[in-house]
Amino acid sequence: MKTQQEIINDFPILKVSVNGKRLVYLDNAATTQKPKQVIDAISNYYLEMNANVHRGVHYLSELASEEYEEAHRRVAKFINANGMEEIIFTRNTTESLNLLAYSLGLNELKKGDKVVVTRFEHHSNLVPWQQITRKVGAKLEFIEITDDGRLDMESAEKIIDDNTKIVSIVHMSNALGTILPVKEVSKLAKEHGAYMIADGAQSAPHMKIDVKDLGVDFFAFSGHKMLAPMGIGVLFGKQEILENIQPFLYGGDMIKLVTYDEAQWNHLPWKFEAGTPNVSGGIGLKVAVDYLEQVGFDTIHKIESDLTNYAYEKLSELPYIKIYGPEPKYRGAVISFAMEGIHPHDIATLLDEDGVAVRAGHHCAQPLMKLLNTDATTRASFYLYNTREDVDILIESLQKIYKLFS
Ligand SMILES: Cc1ncc(COP(=O)(O)O)c(C=O)c1O
Repeated sequence: MKTQQEIINDFPILKVSVNGKRLVYLDNAATTQKPKQVIDAISNYYLEMNANVHRGVHYLSELASEEYEEAHRRVAKFINANGMEEIIFTRNTTESLNLLAYSLGLNELKKGDKVVVTRFEHHSNLVPWQQITRKVGAKLEFIEITDDGRLDMESAEKIIDDNTKIVSIVHMSNALGTILPVKEVSKLAKEHGAYMIADGAQSAPHMKIDVKDLGVDFFAFSGHKMLAPMGIGVLFGKQEILENIQPFLYGGDMIKLVTYDEAQWNHLPWKFEAGTPNVSGGIGLKVAVDYLEQVGFDTIHKIESDLTNYAYEKLSELPYIKIYGPEPKYRGAVISFAMEGIHPHDIATLLDEDGVAVRAGHHCAQPLMKLLNTDATTRASFYLYNTREDVDILIESLQKIYKLFS
């Protein structure tokens, strides 16, 4: 088992200094850093096996194809899917959700049907559904948030009904950190015969995902938020549904047979992977998944919940800080906050002077910010290589900033 110091040593970028200070990277909800195992796997792909996949019989093409397929099998196992057929590689969560909006939404929804999302959604799980429901004349409805920043299950029970064809909810809010009860909502969706989708961009990096236990039909996530490179994402879909819906993108690789007049689709998952894919990204994702499982989600949870509780407690002691979202037991490793009298962007800029990287803004959740009566927050988000010392540096820097401004 790796110690936390051994984990930290695996991330070369953490040795970078910023303004002469040690980098304290607390912007993990935006993207995570990459361990050298992942960086080496990408470099090794280009050094030893680069070729286009599924197109050649030569040695390199066969090797690259096998590695790329193996990456699908590895991800299937990671989230307890039935096999490679249920794992589509995309660019990111956004593309996975757009794929569903077009392939499932555009073809399966009719006038008067309902799509249900929540008030927490990232724009990626909101804007595609706004567009598609408008196109087909369906309604888009929202499950409400409780006053303490959790999903309102009474509202879910009211809103999900027999007209609901698709329920698509975020698993963990990137803006508030709230973990949503996907399993309970899946149960409601199934009682009414609706498709169930979860946006796992913020959950897959931090907790063991079992798509069967969650009861979802689809689950979307991004590699870059879980140690893998940018440009590789995943859409899990149940095989029987994927077999029966239209592809999203058309072109090379996704076909079995083409004439000048028509085309037949390739078998899964390639039916949904048109064009030359991100092979090195897929291989990088496989190694990232290996890394996460080697460390273990129990260990990751232990590190993150300690840091979240610690940071929450320390921030709560500062009377000029307002924390958004629920108490720590209902949230993941994300804390959004505001400081009296100072704009979140200014806080982030001043924290950067102390080497602390955080995010400020609307976090791609503008409607949620409006609901919270603000336009932006500052957000610190943790991952397995963060320490209590990182939190202490954040807090000291915030104290300094407040003194400076008051
Ligand atoms: C909850 C949630 N959903 C979707 C996304 C979109 O992810 P990506 O930009 O990788 O497509 C994000 C990114 O921050 C997110 O936090």
